[in-house]
Amino acid sequence: MAPHKFDPARAASLDAPERQSYLPDDRVVGLLQPADGEVVLDVGAGSGRLSLALAKAIPAGKVVAIEENREMARLLRERVASYANVSVVEADVAALPKESLRADRALAVSVLHELEVKPALAALAKVLKPRGRLVVVDWERGRPRAVGPPDGHHLYLAEEAAALLAESGFVVERVERALFPYHFAIVAAARTVGS
Ligand SMILES: C[S@@+](CC[C@H](N)C(=O)[O-])C[C@H]1O[C@@H](n2cnc3c(N)ncnc32)[C@H](O)[C@@H]1O
Repeated sequence: MAPHKFDPARAASLDAPERQSYLPDDRVVGLLQPADGEVVLDVGAGSGRLSLALAKAIPAGKVVAIEENREMARLLRERVASYANVSVVEADVAALPKESLRADRALAVSVLHELEVKPALAALAKVLKPRGRLVVVDWERGRPRAVGPPDGHHLYLAEEAAALLAESGFVVERVERALFPYHFAIVAAARTVGS
């Protein structure tokens, strides 16, 4: 079954202030540990909330916000227009320009369950520099909650997501289930050398 995609009509929900109570931007960015000057991908950037948090964390670095949905990409461009260190790539992450893009780190928040996961992770493994870090944060199946997508929207257990990463060229370094009430977080390192 094809993954269930985010509805752009719900874009405002990504920027709802209450989201900070269960998924604080600073805790997510802290997991990635971006260093200033690095190139960082925000995969499935949506309205750009985390792209901006990253841009502020690495003012001398570069944030590449990847978003496949045309309407979301339009909102994203508007949102980041005044940030010189953010660029928007309107594309499926599985079709990244692997020849011209090399990243130190990548962040994917609330998007794993929307991906054709194997081609998307294969593309990220190629675009990340050797030992580059990928942080995946997503709603975990089975956790009681009044917000977020239903379990039937292809949500993963943390260990299922970790296994997918391991099968896709990443070394899983941390699996966190207690950092957030509804989301798991995985920190992984790219194993393969970019081609
Ligand atoms: C639930 S939103 C999360 C947005 C953002 N990461 C956040 O946490 O605020 C998921 C976003 O990923 C985008 N997306 C889904 N599949 C994608 C893919 N294959 N390539 C790029 N973007 C994708 C959707 O269009 C949507 O905007």
